[in-house]
Amino acid sequence: MSSSIHEFPFPFEENEYRYKNNSVLLDPPRSITVDDRYEEELDLKRRLLVNHHDRCYQSLSHSLEAQWEVLRLIFYELAQYNPEDFQLKRHGNEWIFQNHRLQEEERFIFRDTGSIELEPLDLAGRHVQEDLILMGDRHGDLFLDAGQLCFPSNWSLVFTLGMDFKSIHDPVPGIQQHHFINKVHRFIKRIQPGQSWERKNWSITIGPKLDTHLETYAEWGKLRDQVTEDNAGDKVHLRVEVQRLYRLPVNNDVLFTIHTYLLPLVKLVTHPAWLRQFYQNIISLDQDIADYKGISHYQEAMLAYMERWLPGERNSQHDR
Ligand code: HEM
Repeated sequence: MSSSIHEFPFPFEENEYRYKNNSVLLDPPRSITVDDRYEEELDLKRRLLVNHHDRCYQSLSHSLEAQWEVLRLIFYELAQYNPEDFQLKRHGNEWIFQNHRLQEEERFIFRDTGSIELEPLDLAGRHVQEDLILMGDRHGDLFLDAGQLCFPSNWSLVFTLGMDFKSIHDPVPGIQQHHFINKVHRFIKRIQPGQSWERKNWSITIGPKLDTHLETYAEWGKLRDQVTEDNAGDKVHLRVEVQRLYRLPVNNDVLFTIHTYLLPLVKLVTHPAWLRQFYQNIISLDQDIADYKGISHYQEAMLAYMERWLPGERNSQHDR
């Protein structure tokens, strides 16, 4: 299931990890990407939504108007950038969205909630690989008003629903240092209508598992203790989230999309420049961040595995 190395969005630009607003403005503004894992990931997403709907979908009722705007954005974008796979036809308020990849058709009256069985955000999210988080912009702050979250990196939608931007980030160690999260907040507030910004976030997951909800931590968290130098290549996966922030022009809320990619170490070691930079980031990671990301359990084992391709690297680290 893992990503091909050629398409993998390698997130590191420096040899040491620090929180950074590495966002870049996208031209044209995009909020989603369709790739060759589309069918596989949509199948998993929909199974999660059917079996664990509350865990994967939450909304506050006042978000409905903005949800319709998100649905319009997503269906337009799919049809515009992948016209061979998706089509959108409009006859007044009667819309027909065709998804040829999944051989499906959605017919509905735009902004008539009675014409669809799901909420608009829930429907839109079933046609894209991304998780979709809707941040309401009110009273000078951003609040998590709705979300479809099937592939979270160890967080909970039920817990964060309705929370403000800074409270959501409270569990992240050191995020308030140098006013980092305040600056990010101000940056998002300044995003102009119709603009889209993209950044990458990284973590590590054991096994090729996209659905690491906080609610199921007891199932997947214990795998962290099973990593050894010999199995690290197959078990340890670099997890990268390509995150996009899009300011909705009509409602002025912010759509936050998360596209998650996984790359096993056994593939990463075939790319020498990436391997060296990843190694340097892992060996120099602050203890509190290594603990937060769950890496402390197997940091030594994965470093030892990578050193098989980087002889002498640890000593040269000490000499720096
Ligand atoms: C408005 C959209 C955003 C939402 C909804 C959001 C939400 C979250 C959540 C739920 C977490 C996990 C917190 C936990 O452990 O419980 C997180 C982590 C984090 N967020 Fe955000 N975030 C957003 C935008 C951003 C932006 C724009 C930045 C930086 C420019 C950022 C930086 C971070 C960092 C550094 C972490 C720690 C991640 C890690 O080390 O794995 N976030 N965010």
